[in-house]
Formats: sequence, C-alpha cells, structure tokens
Amino acid sequence: MSLYQLFDWLNKQGIKLSAQDGKLHLRAPKGVLSPEIQTILSERKAEILEFMTQNQQKIEKFIDLSAEAVLESTIYPENTATSLGTEPTSIFLTGATGFLGAFLLSELLQQTQAKIYCLVRGSELETAQGRLQNNLKFYNLWNSSFQSRIIPVLGDISLPQLGLTTATFSKLANEIDSIYHSGALLSYVYSYARLKPCNVLGTQEILRLACQSKTKSLHYISSFAVFESSAYSQKIVDENESLSDWEDIYLGYSQSKWVAEKLVMEARNRGLPINIYRSAFISGDSQTGIWKNNDIICRMIKGYIQMGSMPQLDYFLDLSPVDYVAQGIVYLSRQKQAIGKCYHLNNPHPYHWQNLFAWLCSLGYSIQLIPYQQWQKQLSATMRTNQNVLTSLIPFFCQEWGQEKITIPELYQQNIRPKISCQETINTLRETSIVCPAVDTALLKIYFSYFLSSGYLEPAS
Ligand SMILES: NC(=O)c1ccc[n+]([C@@H]2O[C@H](COP(=O)([O-])OP(=O)(O)OC[C@H]3O[C@@H](n4cnc5c(N)ncnc54)[C@H](OP(=O)(O)O)[C@@H]3O)[C@@H](O)[C@H]2O)c1
Repeated sequence: MSLYQLFDWLNKQGIKLSAQDGKLHLRAPKGVLSPEIQTILSERKAEILEFMTQNQQKIEKFIDLSAEAVLESTIYPENTATSLGTEPTSIFLTGATGFLGAFLLSELLQQTQAKIYCLVRGSELETAQGRLQNNLKFYNLWNSSFQSRIIPVLGDISLPQLGLTTATFSKLANEIDSIYHSGALLSYVYSYARLKPCNVLGTQEILRLACQSKTKSLHYISSFAVFESSAYSQKIVDENESLSDWEDIYLGYSQSKWVAEKLVMEARNRGLPINIYRSAFISGDSQTGIWKNNDIICRMIKGYIQMGSMPQLDYFLDLSPVDYVAQGIVYLSRQKQAIGKCYHLNNPHPYHWQNLFAWLCSLGYSIQLIPYQQWQKQLSATMRTNQNVLTSLIPFFCQEWGQEKITIPELYQQNIRPKISCQETINTLRETSIVCPAVDTALLKIYFSYFLSSGYLEPAS
C-alpha cells in the first residue's frame, strides 16, 4: 500500500496523524485502533514520520523570514580582493552532480583553464569522480580532456564548514579564486525547516569560505521564487530590485531561496564581490533537448498525459534552456565590470499555457483542458493508485494558502505574478552569441523528440 493509500484509509477510519518534535502523534476514535492497524503504524512509523515532517508547511504557517536572514557577524572578507577572479586558476563549484551544475562545470572547463574543485556528497573520492563524470556523460557534455581538471571534494553543503575538515576548508580558502554556488535542495513539498540546513545555512558556509583568507568572487544561483510575496504582484521587477518583501511567501523552497539571497546580499554589502543570477524554470538543452526528467515541468507534461487532463491557468511558461543559463552565467561572471550585480536569466519570449495544451493535442495526446478545481480532484484521485508522476506533488498543487485560499500554481498566474525584466542582462550579453531561445514550437519539438527517444514519454496512440 502506498503512503497516500494508507493516509486515505486511516482517514476513512477517523484516525488523524501529526508530527511534532520528531515524534508521531495519533488521534483515533475509541475502539478503532485494532492490533492490525497498530502493527502497520509501528512498521511504517519512520516512513510516515518522514513524510509528515516534509509537509510541515501546513503546521509552520508563519515564519519571520527577515529574522532568519541574519548573516553571522564574523563573516566579513578578511582582505580586499586582489583579483576579481575573471581569469581564475582554481574554482570551487557546488551542485556539479546536478542539472545546471553539469552545464556550469562543462562551460567553466571550456571557458577557463582553471582546476575545478567540485563539492560532492559521498564517502569515496573515486565514486565522487565517477558521479561527476557520469553526470557530464548523461547530459552529453563529457570530454576526456576534462578529467585532470575536475577535482572532487567530499562534503555536504548542509554541514558546518561544508562537512570539510578545518585543514581542507583552510586549504581551499587559501587556494581558490572563485566560487560558483549552484548546489541546493529543490523540492516543492519540503518545509522551510527541512530546506534551511542546505539552502540557507549551506549558503552561509559558502560565504564563510568566500571571506576566509583570500577574498574570492562568489557567483550565486538564485531563483525568481524570491519574488513570490504579493508585494511584487503586477510590479515590474528588474535586476536592481532590493528584495525587501517576504510576507506571504508560502512555499518552503521559495522561503529558503529568499533568506539565502538576503544573506548573500548582506555579504555583498560587507564587501564580498558577488554576482547573483536569478533564473526562471530551467529547461532542457536547446540543442539536444536533454532535460532532468524529475524536474517539475517534465513531470507536469507527463502527468497531464497520464491523467488525460490539464488545468486551465492564465500562465506563461517561462523556461530558460540550461545551456543558455550556464553560458550566460559563465560569461557574465568573467566580465570585470559586471561584478557586484544581479542578472535575470529568464526567457524574454515565454509561452502561454494554452499553447502547451494545443501542442500536446497536435501530437495526438488525448487531453482535456479543465477548470483548476476539477483537475485537482482528478489529481487527488491518483493517490489511490499512485501511478501518476504528479502524485507526490499533490501538496504543491492542492494546498491552499493565505486568506485568499490560493494554491501556488494559481498564484503563478499572469494577473498576480510580477513582470520580470531581464533588459539589463540582455544588454550585457548583447555583444555575444548568447541568446535565450524563445519557447516556441521549434524548441518544443527538440524537447519532445528527446522525451520520446529517451523513453520518458510514450508516443500518442
Ligand atoms: N531547476 C530549475 O528550474 C531552477 C530554477 C531556478 C533556480 N534554480 C537554482 O539552480 C540551482 C541548481 O538547480 P538544479 O536544477 O541544477 O538542481 P539539481 O539538479 O537538483 O541539483 C542540485 C545539486 O545540489 C547538490 N546538493 C543538494 N544538497 C546537497 C548537499 N547537502 N550537499 C552537497 N550537495 C548538495 C546535489 O547533489 P546530489 O547529486 O548529491 O543530490 C546536486 O548536485 C539551485 O540553486 C536552484 O535553486 C533551479
């Protein structure tokens, strides 16, 4: 029985579960807790507790994010920066076993001569090296000449000193010139508390590394999720936005990115040379179509096809191909006059949701466009079988927030979200060949041929 089936079943018996302080609490009507139920609950306790803790958002409705965004007072650059890292000899990269990280690693290897120290989770260097290599191979980016310049460092972003010994931390602090911080925990259902160690405290550890001994330039990967406060609704948000508003950011992931970016901004105020790169949804490679398949957009496409329905939303799909994002970041990071800034790597030519529906129909998939509430009911019904790729994202699609009782996907609609301007970024990239491809039929053709050839999607019958 899947967890969802189990919850459904317990609910029907009137049994209510909750998690607090790492313990599972249970309320049940008299006489319902049969020995059979007690056995199931005790056997699956750890799994249930894990799930309930991940969904703490429902419990932790209010978090004062501004109180969270306080950078440790000891984190100050120890020296003034001598070089801005535009021609680095040693780079420290996080997230290189991930999606964007693979493209950043490949781009850094091609555009610089530097050694790239990559922070990787694990216990053996050899395995870590293999993970980095396999990830590049998966995205079709591997080149054997890269091998000697990729240096794995075993660690964990969510731990003090990134899980490194003091000696290793100091050695890296003395040696590296630049840091690219792409590593993060991405989840649309985890709570802020669950994400904080990696996304917030981990960013603070990165800032500590950047400040210690030699002052390093830091390139921090952020997200437009930081603008989910209603204060930005309908506003034009450009690269110089100060990011002062945080009230009613509901999603744990967005909260963690807001707090982390504020810490980064504070470190910049203290004199650390930092660029911030905000991205919209990052989509597959615009040339090969290769895309991280457990990404939310891929799962939505597959989930709609599996369900035979998609919700009506007045929404523009803002997808930035991963090759554009990585090339943009690496180019911008190497411009001397362009340090200390924010850049917006969103797509100036997004795609309306309704067009995605038309596109799926044109491929022969049998899909209906239905009102959001109706679609939510259909999605909830998938809990019984757990055979839809969106089932584990039900809290994201169904949880209602605030006085307006609004779900996050509804919040992303055109009439509520801010209008993101990327004009300054485009102006800085103007002299280059780095251009964000429009989200159009040509790009979707590339993505869908990858989905089909990799077996991620079945062709329409
Ligand atoms: N993808 C998007 O649509 C999108 C949009 C806007 C902004 N961003 C930002 O872009 C960055 C990269 O995203 P992505 O799509 O490349 O994510 P991803 O594919 O999930 O990769 C995340 C990377 O972070 C690493 N990581 C996670 N927790 C870690 C920890 N505790 N210690 C060490 N490494 C850890 C992962 O390592 P493992 O392989 O060990 O898990 C992986 O290498 C993130 O900062 C994200 O917030 C992404």
